[in-house]
Amino acid sequence: MTETILFVDDEENILNSVVRTFVDSDFTILTAPDAAQALDLLKSSTIAVLITDNMMPGMSGMELLELTKVVSPNTVKIMMTAYTDLPTVIEAINRVEVFRFIVKPWDNQQLLATVSDGVNRYRLLDSLRHESEAVLYALAETIELKDPYTKGHCERVAHYALLIADKLNLPDNVKDDIRFGSWLHDCGKIGVPEQILNAPRSLRTDEIVTVRFHPEWGAEVARKARMSPIVINIIRNHHERYSGGGYPDNLTGEGIPLEARIVAIADTYDALTSTRPYNEPRSREDAIGILRELSCKELDPALTEIFLDILEKEEHV
Ligand SMILES: [Fe+2]
Repeated sequence: MTETILFVDDEENILNSVVRTFVDSDFTILTAPDAAQALDLLKSSTIAVLITDNMMPGMSGMELLELTKVVSPNTVKIMMTAYTDLPTVIEAINRVEVFRFIVKPWDNQQLLATVSDGVNRYRLLDSLRHESEAVLYALAETIELKDPYTKGHCERVAHYALLIADKLNLPDNVKDDIRFGSWLHDCGKIGVPEQILNAPRSLRTDEIVTVRFHPEWGAEVARKARMSPIVINIIRNHHERYSGGGYPDNLTGEGIPLEARIVAIADTYDALTSTRPYNEPRSREDAIGILRELSCKELDPALTEIFLDILEKEEHV
């Protein structure tokens, strides 16, 4: 597989020179004359390594690297600048987790070696990520085993949540995390006794308190496993209510992380349309009506509208 490398510099002759240096390499080389165009490329392509100048008109290289952490977190970041500016080096290493620092004028062999090290680091992280995907899914299935009524629930929640994420044109890495977060949103239920989870009756107050701890327990596990903030937010905040009064943080409106608001809709719809110990599945039409009632109260109205639009237009959903 050919990895893609992105060079960003406002000086055209530098970009031309870099392209010549890498002409015989196995990598696909992209260039951008400023941070804004670089960000577009980071959103639209899978970039293994980003090498950016710091002092550029408009957005600086440092700001670009900071945004890269959000839009393309797996990209390995290298900063290239004209002089050794120690505070910038330290800031780059600490704040944006820059992998290496290259000082201009560069030595071609050193540049090739540094980029090649960056690609190796990217491949390692990428393979870990793929392996962890299988581990994450296995964990989600373990949760379903504990609560037989939720068989297939995690996968369906992920499916519905990704339909909404697609309509919002969220970047691929965010969609990946929404998938993982959907699979794992109830992983804290591992800490809830099975007789409570499967009770075919209304729960006592003390049992409700126990069940309501599952987002916090799950988020704590995810934090220790160093999962991404998006996954942790979904696990912790999928029971918040748009108008307030949810748990565990009693957040409201857009104070609730976007990814958690998306998964709350997916989770609610699947809970309504699947068999539970305490109720029969609702028809699609009934579930749509209930989602309408919950919009603005429990669920984000704009996102609910998007999901209802998908349900109404696409019969197979
Ligand atoms: Fe939950």
